Amino acid sequence: METLTSITTPTQAMDLEWEYGAHNYHPIPVVLTRGEGVFLWDVEGKRYFDFLSAYSAVSQGHCHPRIINAMTEQAQRLTLTSRAFYNDKTGLCEQYLCEYFGYDKALLMNSGAEGGETALKLTRKWAYLVKGIPQNEAKVVFAAGNFWGRTLAAISSSTDPSSTNDFGPLLPGYIVIPYNDLAALEETFAKDPNIAGFMVEPIQGEAGVVVPDEGYIQGVRDLCSRYNVLFIADEVQTGIGRTGKQLACDYENVKPDLLVLGKALSGGTLPVSAVLTSDEVMLTIKPGEHGSTYGGNPLACAVTMEALQVVQDEKLADNAMAIGEVFRARMRAISQKTDLVKLVRGRGLLNAIVITERPELGEQTAWEICLKLMKNGLLTKPTHGDKIRFAPPLVITEEQMHEACDIIEKTLLAF
Ligand SMILES: Cc1ncc(COP(=O)(O)O)c(C=O)c1O
Repeated sequence: METLTSITTPTQAMDLEWEYGAHNYHPIPVVLTRGEGVFLWDVEGKRYFDFLSAYSAVSQGHCHPRIINAMTEQAQRLTLTSRAFYNDKTGLCEQYLCEYFGYDKALLMNSGAEGGETALKLTRKWAYLVKGIPQNEAKVVFAAGNFWGRTLAAISSSTDPSSTNDFGPLLPGYIVIPYNDLAALEETFAKDPNIAGFMVEPIQGEAGVVVPDEGYIQGVRDLCSRYNVLFIADEVQTGIGRTGKQLACDYENVKPDLLVLGKALSGGTLPVSAVLTSDEVMLTIKPGEHGSTYGGNPLACAVTMEALQVVQDEKLADNAMAIGEVFRARMRAISQKTDLVKLVRGRGLLNAIVITERPELGEQTAWEICLKLMKNGLLTKPTHGDKIRFAPPLVITEEQMHEACDIIEKTLLAF
């Protein structure tokens, strides 16, 4: 293949990735070059609605001017010191996070998976130092269908064979029970005194936007309190306004013991994650026991504070709540006109439709729909075969939502 120094056609970009990149993704065949608000543009100048938002990371809209401004200003002053030294942004960001979400302490990392790992390490430390579980005996419970990343600790809790096949041995100390099943949770807690934590998504994102029954999260809180088990809420995808509330746990007015955030923390600019918790849990970790070179860097901290302030100032959770209703009403109306849409589910602007597979297309049906959506100017991707997720930036207006729903309707009715 000839050496390229710039991309002029979509095929060049796709061929380059195929030739020189690992084949660990199967992208929709679109090559993007610019983003603004709810829109993306490809290298040929075609505009698309972004209905994936980089898996809910770009909640504030692409290249939000205030976030980009905070980033470029900070980038010109100081980007990285490591935590070997203090800087004039990390403490401000930790204070900001604690006040924003109502916790004693924050620990900043980079990716969502690292946030999850951090929460688990804290949980194990707490198990030994506070709960008094014998060394190396601590267990953490997860729900089937969970997804929290691709590291070995994350896949060790996975029930999806494509996450785990040929990657063993997996980490010990995990128990997996069904999602949305309080009886199974109680039974598990009751028979094992060495359980330290239960890590759960209040709505399962990658599983296909699986919304549990009302009362589930409150039930989890009650059981965790009763059995002295830490409730770890993975709100990496659901948090920061995405579901129409600041946190999905807010639907049941429940406060988890550990809150894991990522994705939209930086408005789609930098990998930033955080774990928020109490002094009792956070102070079990001592200097030298956990960290990351880039975790809590001043650039990430400046961006995070601005990205969260934008969510508040622009009332993006309220917008997600209102526009999410518009979206689901439109999808339910479409489901009356075609049997292709089996189910519409979600909260705020985290939604999915479950597709009836067409015999001639089989498991490819959702994929073919996404390709047609792309042709018609809207981007998203199937998740777990027959589900299509729709998660636009939270800055979307009602008018834009109707325009996007017109595209979805036209596409689905043409099948
Ligand atoms: C709920 C949840 N937790 C954690 C992660 C992992 O985040 P990252 O991809 O930044 O490691 C994801 C990613 O999709 C997620 O949806």
